[in-house]
Amino acid sequence: MKQFTMPHTEITAPNVVLGLMRIAEKSDEEIRTLVRTARNVGIDFFDHADIYGGTTHRCEERFAQAMQLSPSEREQVTIQSKAGIVTDGPYFDYSSEHLVRSVEGSLKALQTDHLDILLLHRPDALVEPEEVARAFDELHASGKVRHFGVSNHTPRQIELLQKHLDQPIVANQLQLSITHSTFIAQGVAANMQGTEQSVVRDGGGILDFCRLHEITVQAWSPFQARFFDGVFLSHPEYAELNAVIDRLAAQYEVSPEAIATAWITRHPAQMQVVLGTTTPQRVADSADGSEIPLTRAEWYELFRAAGWIVP
Ligand SMILES: NC(=O)c1ccc[n+]([C@@H]2O[C@H](COP(=O)([O-])OP(=O)(O)OC[C@H]3O[C@@H](n4cnc5c(N)ncnc54)[C@H](OP(=O)(O)O)[C@@H]3O)[C@@H](O)[C@H]2O)c1
Repeated sequence: MKQFTMPHTEITAPNVVLGLMRIAEKSDEEIRTLVRTARNVGIDFFDHADIYGGTTHRCEERFAQAMQLSPSEREQVTIQSKAGIVTDGPYFDYSSEHLVRSVEGSLKALQTDHLDILLLHRPDALVEPEEVARAFDELHASGKVRHFGVSNHTPRQIELLQKHLDQPIVANQLQLSITHSTFIAQGVAANMQGTEQSVVRDGGGILDFCRLHEITVQAWSPFQARFFDGVFLSHPEYAELNAVIDRLAAQYEVSPEAIATAWITRHPAQMQVVLGTTTPQRVADSADGSEIPLTRAEWYELFRAAGWIVP
């Protein structure tokens, strides 16, 4: 498993991490097997959110109940969570009061005294950056949160926040898979009239912005075709892509999941892949994609087979 020091932090992080969004209905034993499988392949970084699991803090709670981490086990892992979405509505809330209350709920549910990283989950149209700064100062000073980041944010939204924050933004979690790679695809087809791929959907250059500022991009839903409508792996609608994936999987003697993972880890931006599977074998198979040295030709072949143009 490839590891790197996350810029602006002391965290040694793997480039494939485990998201726990889908564990609400799993038994303690199933959660333990999932997490132990992840640990065995080098994944010691876990992604949560206050809203995962149907009721607030449900998945965080299930993780802690199943794992019962000792203090020393807790220190061996990186726990990240998110705040800022109010599902009863829905609406977004980046007020200081909401963010602090959410983190306190996460700490209680996770049975820990600190989050290693807190992400602001989705941009709040009514954001007051001074309020976010107040929350971050309080959470940082009290030791409840060590580092801060964002999710689904544009370059300008990050700049606005950063102008008011004393703490650096260390991560931006964005949806990214071979088939949902709009912010990469737009970059290779910039300024082409009448070309759908040229449409800017990320505020403009989010990947380059994150690289310039050493903000780690975390790729969520790495196997989903689009927005939660199923995976592209083995899906007949993506026959051409799957043919290339299967050929490369045979060539590198790994699973298709590993090739789909490698398409993200091969990118020089040093992104992290956030797996969401609850199947232990799929975690292990995907982890094999941490360091596969796809060639440029192979990386672009996957990209083209997913339907993107290389003009
Ligand atoms: N920041 C955000 O806005 C945001 C949004 C969504 C998610 N996330 C994070 O990203 C993580 C991953 O999201 P995700 O679960 O949508 O991503 P994913 O890893 O692309 O999808 C996993 C889902 O696909 C299913 N699946 C079916 N075939 C599969 C295969 N061959 N390989 C792998 N999975 C297969 C899995 O089922 P099984 O469980 O049965 O294997 C699971 O339901 C979440 O846990 C969460 O931490 C963040």
